Amino acid sequence: MALDGLNTLEDLDFRDKKVFLRVDYNVPLGKNGEVLDDYRIKQSIPTIRKLFAKGAKQVILASHLGRPKNKEDVFRMDRVAEKLPRLTGRSVEKVDDCIDLEDLMPSPSEAGIVVLENLRFYVEEELNDEGFAKKLAGLADVYVNDAFAVCHRKHASVHAITRFLPGCIGLLVEKELKVFGEVLESPEKPFVAVLGGAKLETKIPLIRVLLDKVDKLLLGGAMIFTFYKAKGFGIGKSLVDKNFLEMAKLMNHNEKIVLPSDVVIADDKDNPSHVLNVTVDKIPSYMYGLDVGKESVEKFKMELQGAKMVVWNGPLGYYENEKFAEATNELLRFLGDRAGIKTIIGGGDSVAIVEKLGLRDDFFHVSTGGGASMALLEGRGLPGVEALRADNPA
Ligand code: 3PG
Repeated sequence: MALDGLNTLEDLDFRDKKVFLRVDYNVPLGKNGEVLDDYRIKQSIPTIRKLFAKGAKQVILASHLGRPKNKEDVFRMDRVAEKLPRLTGRSVEKVDDCIDLEDLMPSPSEAGIVVLENLRFYVEEELNDEGFAKKLAGLADVYVNDAFAVCHRKHASVHAITRFLPGCIGLLVEKELKVFGEVLESPEKPFVAVLGGAKLETKIPLIRVLLDKVDKLLLGGAMIFTFYKAKGFGIGKSLVDKNFLEMAKLMNHNEKIVLPSDVVIADDKDNPSHVLNVTVDKIPSYMYGLDVGKESVEKFKMELQGAKMVVWNGPLGYYENEKFAEATNELLRFLGDRAGIKTIIGGGDSVAIVEKLGLRDDFFHVSTGGGASMALLEGRGLPGVEALRADNPA
C-alpha cells in the first residue's frame, strides 16, 4: 500500500540522463555555519550511488537549508557540498544559484555531481510556484525525490516539479515509507508506542491513530498533567491544556493508555533548588511536574520488555535540563540494548536525542523526518509523495 502507484529507481531509465535529485540536506549548523550532523547527507548516498550504477551521467542535488529570509551566507549550501566528494568518491561542483544558471552549469564531464544553491533563497520554492518548478526541471531529464523530511511540504521542488519531468522516489523515501507503512498497516504485535511532548493539543491526532493500532500507549512529557488534572489530582504549576480536559477525561478510561504513577517535580524548571520524585497525587501547589518518575520508568520497561515493535515520538521530560532527561535517556538505552524489539524513532526531537546518546545504530529505524514522520503516523498524506503517485499526480 505505502508504495502503491509509485515508481522507484528500478522503474525509470537513467542511462545517459541528467537527474534532478531532491534531497533534504537541512542539517543542523554550528555558529560558523559548520555542519554539526551529516546523518541526512549520509542517508542520501545509496541513492546517488545507485543512480550512477544505473548509468546516470550527472546528478544534480537540490535542497533547502534552514529558513533563510534574505539569502544569508550561513544558509549557502557550500559547507554541505564540501562533505560530498569524500562520501561519494566523485567530483562535486557547487553552483551559486539554483535557477537561471545558463553557462554556470558544469558539463557532466566536468562534474558528475552538482550541488545547487539553497532552494529557499527563492520564495517561489515555498509558494509551490509553477514557473520556478519549470526552471528547476529544465536542468535535468529525470526527477527523483529522496527528500523524505520535506515531503510533508507542498513546495515547488517536491510538488510542482513533478508536472514537468518523469519522476520516482529514491531509496531513502522508499525505506521510510516501507517502515511507517508497516507500523500503520501490519505492525508486529505486541506493538507499543511511547509518546512524549509538551502540548496535548498537538499530540491528539497521533494519540487517536495510535490507539487504534497499539497494544499499549505509554505517555510521558508535560501533556500527562492534563490527564491527571482530568482525574481531579492537584498538579501544582505543571502545564495543562484546559481546552482538552474533557478529551483527557474520556481517554483516562482507555485501558491501552499507561500513565506514569510517579513523577519528578521541581520548584523551577531551569534552576531548581528542590527536585523530588513523588507519586502523582502528591504534587505540591508550588511545584512543576517535569519528568516521569523512577518507579514508572521500571513499569514502562516491563511494558516494553515483551514488545515486538515500538514506535517512539517525543521526550518524556523537560529535556532541555539534563535533570529532567533521565526517564527518556534510560528508556532509550533500554530499547537500544534490545535487538529483538523493532524500535522506530520518529520525530525531530527524539532523533536528536538518540544521536546525542550515541544510539543511532542501535535501533531498527531512526527516521530522517520530523514533521514528515508525524504526518505519516497521523495518516495524513505527504504531498511530495502523493504528487508522484500515478493515480494522483500533482
Ligand atoms: C525538517 O528539517 O523537518 C525539514 O527539512 C523541513 O524543514 P522545515 O520545517 O523548515 O520546512
